[in-house]
Parts: sequence; C-alpha cells; structure tokens
Amino acid sequence: MLLPNLGSGVRVMVACGGLLAAAYAQTAPPAAKNPLTRNPQAVRAGRGLYLERCAVCHGQDAAGSMAASLVRSRTVMRGSDAALFQVISKGFPGTQMPPQTDLEPRKIWQIVAYLHSLARPGLQPPLPGDAAAGRKVFAGAGCAGCHQVEGKGGFLGPPLDSIAARKTSDRIRNDVLEPDAEIAEGYRAAAVVTRGGGRIEGILKNEDTFSVQILTPGGRFHMLDRREIAELQKPAQSAMPRDYRGRLSGEQLQNLLAYLDRLRDPYIPIPRGFRNY
Ligand code: HEC
Ligand code: HEC
Repeated sequence: MLLPNLGSGVRVMVACGGLLAAAYAQTAPPAAKNPLTRNPQAVRAGRGLYLERCAVCHGQDAAGSMAASLVRSRTVMRGSDAALFQVISKGFPGTQMPPQTDLEPRKIWQIVAYLHSLARPGLQPPLPGDAAAGRKVFAGAGCAGCHQVEGKGGFLGPPLDSIAARKTSDRIRNDVLEPDAEIAEGYRAAAVVTRGGGRIEGILKNEDTFSVQILTPGGRFHMLDRREIAELQKPAQSAMPRDYRGRLSGEQLQNLLAYLDRLRDPYIPIPRGFRNY
C-alpha cells in the first residue's frame, strides 16, 4: 500500500490507523533545548517511562544489558538534547530499538531529562536539603580547612565550587563517607622519610627523576631533592579524615550535600524561568 506523504516529515500510517501516533514519531523535536531539564517531576516521570519501555534492553539503571549502556552513551553524555530526542522518538535504525510512535513530545523530553540526570551530574535536579544549614556544616566540620569554596579555604584537597557539576551527589556522598574509595586526581597522599631521619607527610603534587614536591597540611610546599630522600611512601588511603560517618548526622550530611549541589549553578546553564528552590 502507498503511504501519502504530507510533507514536513509527517507520514500518515493509514494501515494501522495510528494517525496521531505516526505524526509524533516523524516530527522533529519541538524545541532545540529540553524544556524539562533538571525538573524533578519530569525526571521522575521519565524514569517511569524508561522502566516501562527501555529497561528491558538497556537495563534497570540504564547501565546496559542486551543493548548498550545509556549512562556511557556518547549521545546521552555529550550529544545535544535534540539528538537524543530524535534517537528516542525514531528508534535506532538497523537495530531492534523501536521508535516511540505513541509518545507525545513532552513524554520524550521526560525520558531525555531522566537519562541526562543519570549521565550528566550538572543536569541532576536540585538535591533536596537546606543549603544554608549545609554551609554552616561545611564550616563547622572543618571542610574549609582543606577545600576552597567561594574563594576561601585550604589547598590540601581539591576546590569544591564546581564539584556537583562534575560528580553526582551519590559520588560526593561517597567521597565524604568513604574517602579511600576514590582518590581525586592530583591529590594522592604521600610521606617522605629523609636521609636525616625526618618525615614529611602531605599530598604528592609532582615528582620527576630529580625531585619530589609535597604539599603539607599547613599549606607549605616542600621541593625535595631525590638524593635527600631515603624513602617515598604512597599510601593508598586518602589524606581526608575518614570519621565523618560518625561525626555528621543524616540531616547534616544531606544539608551539606545540598550546599555543595547549589554551588554548581554558576557552572552550568540554567534554563530561564526555571524555579524550584
Ligand atoms: C528491543 C530493545 C530496545 C529497546 C526496547 C530500546 N532500545 Fe535503545 N537501543 C537498542 C539497541 C540494540 C541500540 C543500538 C546500540 C546497541 O547495540 O546497544 C540502541 C541504541 C540506543 C541509543 C543510542 C546509544 C548510543 O549508541 O549512543 C539510545 C540513546 C537509546 N537506545 C535509548 C533508548 C530509550 C530511551 C529507550 C526507551 C524509550 C530504548 N532505547 C529502548 C535496543 C533497544
Ligand atoms: C584534612 C584535610 C581535609 C578535610 C578536613 C576534608 N577534606 Fe575533603 N579531601 C581532602 C583531600 C586531600 C582530598 C583528595 C583525596 C581524595 O579524593 O580523597 C579530598 C577529597 C574530597 C572530595 C572529592 C573531590 C574531587 O574532586 O573528587 C570531596 C567531595 C570532599 N573531599 C569533600 C569534603 C567535605 C564535604 C569535607 C568536610 C565534611 C571535607 N572534604 C574535609 C582533604 C580534606
């Protein structure tokens, strides 16, 4: 049977009677940017749709199963909103992935918002919690002694202003509670025993054939000549305290994470008119 082509990509599928549905599947994204980005309700709805329609092939948590991982997919991690919209609405040509012929654009954007919240830390919805209270926890728990935030603080650990644009809140929580599990690049702990019997502990900032550079907790740089070093130890542990699980209540931790979460906003584009905190 011949399908009449109505132009602008809208093909009417007379045979299956799904006129509206076919129109959805063939329509270009209604906007270049996802209007529902970081919207908590949309992310939740998108998760529901994902579980119904996608999880069977891409896995419950989108980490891959019969089909590819979507949290590591280039289309999801780096592609434009519109490109992901297209893949979802049209399916993946030459594979088993079906087009979502019956989904209205708003629902496709919900799925886009959900997948982006999984794969792009900056596109997670705002984390619940009292950021102002969390700012006080940050100061009270001594975090600022080692971390730069809002232009102030120590240098032993990485600056944290844009941390939530780089890492999901789950990973940040893990950094605070289990510092040894993942050591930030360029912030490995080290200890030097000198030939004179001295000991210097801190962060290994650099090392080459001739020298070793260590930053100590007081903020001092030590440039050490290899010939003066009896032993260079590189423990696998973090130089960050590992007792925060016992020191912070669940509520304090949640507020602390909400504070770090809000700091990401200068580092990511926020759609105009979006307000939910
Ligand atoms: C019947 C299985 C199946 C279902 C259901 C399915 N997909 Fe796929 N999808 C695939 C296959 C196969 C590919 C091609 C890549 C691969 O081989 O894993 C793919 C590719 C993709 C890609 C491109 C990945 C890349 O390479 O960057 C995205 C994005 C995607 N799917 C999202 C979805 C979403 C969202 C849903 C639900 C609305 C969905 N898929 C439902 C099988 C499926
Ligand atoms: C004694 C210094 C010190 C204190 C105090 C400290 N940290 Fe750290 N922190 C570090 C160092 C060193 C690292 C890098 C090694 C690592 O990844 O564990 C780090 C890593 C981190 C990371 C991972 C950063 C990244 O770029 O991946 C986060 C998040 C973090 N700290 C949060 C906190 C918070 C929140 C507090 C307060 C509750 C705190 N830290 C207290 C020294 C400290």
